Amino acid sequence: MIEWLAIPCAMVAAALMPSAKMKDKDKIKKVFEVGKVGVKKGDDMKYPKLIKEITGEDYTTYLYSLPLGIPSKVMELLIPSLEDGLNKTVEYEFEDGLVKLHVFETELPKRWDYDTSLIRPGTWEVPIGKNHHGILYHDFDKYQHLLMGGVTRYGKTVCIKEIMNTLISNNPNDIDIYILDLKAGLEFYKYKVFPQVKEVACDVFESAKLLDKLTNELKQTEVFFRTKGWTNIVDTPIKKRTFILVDEGAELSPDIIKDKTAKKFAAFCQAALSEIARISGGLGYRLIYCTQYPTKQAVPQQVKINIVARLAFVCTSGVASEVILDERGAEKIPSIPGRAIYLVDKPKTIQVPYIDDKMIFKMNKEQNNHVTVHTKPSRTDVGDSGSSWHRENKTPPRNPQAKL
Ligand SMILES: Nc1ncnc2c1ncn2[C@@H]1O[C@H](COP(=O)(O)OP(=O)(O)OP(=O)(O)O)[C@@H](O)[C@H]1O
Ligand SMILES: [Mg+2]
Repeated sequence: MIEWLAIPCAMVAAALMPSAKMKDKDKIKKVFEVGKVGVKKGDDMKYPKLIKEITGEDYTTYLYSLPLGIPSKVMELLIPSLEDGLNKTVEYEFEDGLVKLHVFETELPKRWDYDTSLIRPGTWEVPIGKNHHGILYHDFDKYQHLLMGGVTRYGKTVCIKEIMNTLISNNPNDIDIYILDLKAGLEFYKYKVFPQVKEVACDVFESAKLLDKLTNELKQTEVFFRTKGWTNIVDTPIKKRTFILVDEGAELSPDIIKDKTAKKFAAFCQAALSEIARISGGLGYRLIYCTQYPTKQAVPQQVKINIVARLAFVCTSGVASEVILDERGAEKIPSIPGRAIYLVDKPKTIQVPYIDDKMIFKMNKEQNNHVTVHTKPSRTDVGDSGSSWHRENKTPPRNPQAKL
């Protein structure tokens, strides 16, 4: 019979209080006992058995064998109790039938500054954060899109800028960047001077125009790939990748926007972004979609289900965390700017690198002295272009979803 249950943290604290000088492995044992993480055999309880203890530089790993019948999910439930009991960061993983508990002596840094040694020229790999095991890179050729969310002022925009800067540094000649900066262009309009940044849309109307252009381009790329018999850009000689960065996707939600005309454009934008998330990865398009309002309205279903990689900064609630990560956890991230949970196969708490506009401009200036951009030399500014169809209160030229 399985006897385990999720343990209230107060119970763990009470159980460990009188013996604060206990060794960590004894505290872990106590947590197993208090939580009844065991299997009853007759009158005996069989608890996880400590097989090995490995001491590293700033952490200790404990290897346990779990008695048959204990679901692996129990470890996930147990982590908060272990962290409370040990007053240390604890991670777990399964390997060769054993559960490995990593108990860390130090905390993650509260700030980690970006530097040029992080660049990996020729790749699409971007440093996404640092944890106890080292530096984690997100490979945009492996996980093509990225969904990002979390409350205001905890590092989403800084993270997008860091990603953009690294991508440009990695492949200055082979990248086209399109930005939807829906906070009136305040963060990204300044980057229009970079040759790699092709357009910056600053409102829903400009975004609709830009996305219409991109989805049309996508159709042409599809035809080209079909004639060549290609399915995935990574298996072709094409080096170029096209990145679409959306900072504050909620501004494209028809449910949130009040103005009637803007609502139609927003519906068009959401449909276009859904199409991009669904079909463009193999064709070389990469979407980074970010929002401070992780709700169903702000993150279209098709965008979410087609983005495997997720990055959650502090969230207001478990429900908000679920929108980004499909699981709770981001509501418990400590209130530290740049602290986030990165999820591809399993959630990892990280400290995202910090960079500011000054450094990005400095790096770009140095770099572009040596760069010949092979991608389109001229750029149309969606906001300033002559064909201001949106300003004439026309509806978008094509709208797969909204009833216009
Ligand atoms: N990785 C980081 N490390 C340390 N500090 C950071 C980091 N990222 C952001 N900060 C700090 O937090 C501030 C807010 O960051 P940012 O503008 O990226 O937040 P945001 O999540 O985009 O907020 P909003 O939702 O309001 O747009 C920054 O100005 C900086 O001071
Ligand atoms: Mg922001």
